Amino acid sequence: MKLKDQVAIVTGASSGIGAGTSLELARAGATVVVNYPFEAAKNAAEAVVSQIKSEGGNAVSYQCDVSKEAEVVKMFGDTVSQFGTVDILVNNAGLQKDSAFTEMSLDTWNFVLSVNLNGQFLCAREAVKEFLRRGVQPEKSVAAGKIICMSSVHEVIPWSGHANYAASKGGIMMMMKTIAQEFAPKKIRINSIAPGAIQTPINKSAWGTPEGMKNLMRLIPYKRIGEPSDIGKAVVWLASDDSDYVNGTTLFIDGGMTLYPGFEDNG
Ligand code: BGC
Repeated sequence: MKLKDQVAIVTGASSGIGAGTSLELARAGATVVVNYPFEAAKNAAEAVVSQIKSEGGNAVSYQCDVSKEAEVVKMFGDTVSQFGTVDILVNNAGLQKDSAFTEMSLDTWNFVLSVNLNGQFLCAREAVKEFLRRGVQPEKSVAAGKIICMSSVHEVIPWSGHANYAASKGGIMMMMKTIAQEFAPKKIRINSIAPGAIQTPINKSAWGTPEGMKNLMRLIPYKRIGEPSDIGKAVVWLASDDSDYVNGTTLFIDGGMTLYPGFEDNG
């Protein structure tokens, strides 16, 4: 129960990595705000909350589109009113809208940037303000607050046909490092996780057929696709005092995808 009495907001928590991370945080004792973006995702978010409660944990669902400033400000305000503070932000909400570069509309570009990058900016800003207001509460954690930004291997691996997505993840890397530098003296820790291929709805086209899965394995030296819990367990570590000296770094959890697997066979 390393996160006992701590309050975590997990954005984009109605599916995939966000859902898996919410379960792991709750198992570590955190109260989890399971954020979902729109009405159609409400049932899925409620299912995550139910699972947490069935295991004896504490969670609520909360609708908020992280690309909308007023909604983000309200989500943090409501969480502080209900639970007293926010200790952990998992900046997870993200999406893909893939397009050939020459056909990519400005709307498609902006849509991905607005959720993946603007959304992380807005949530991180509100979280940092709350951490600064509250300060360190040593009975809970030696840090004043922790942010874990969900990046991707595509913060370093270029990705044809996904310029908007790769640009958003590269942007997350520098936002994360910059605010980690700025707020470390205030005992706020900010890090990223860069998942590789994790089996979730976002990349079903890559793993959904035996042939796709076989192709995917060419990119993964460890020869298995990742599970949301692979990420969730690392989020718990980055949110806990066990990682207290870890600041402004990206933890790659990718089965070796960033190890240039094309060179496995002597290049
Ligand atoms: C993307 C997935 C992809 C993975 C590895 C992730 O960031 O969202 O679609 O499978 O990177 O390429």
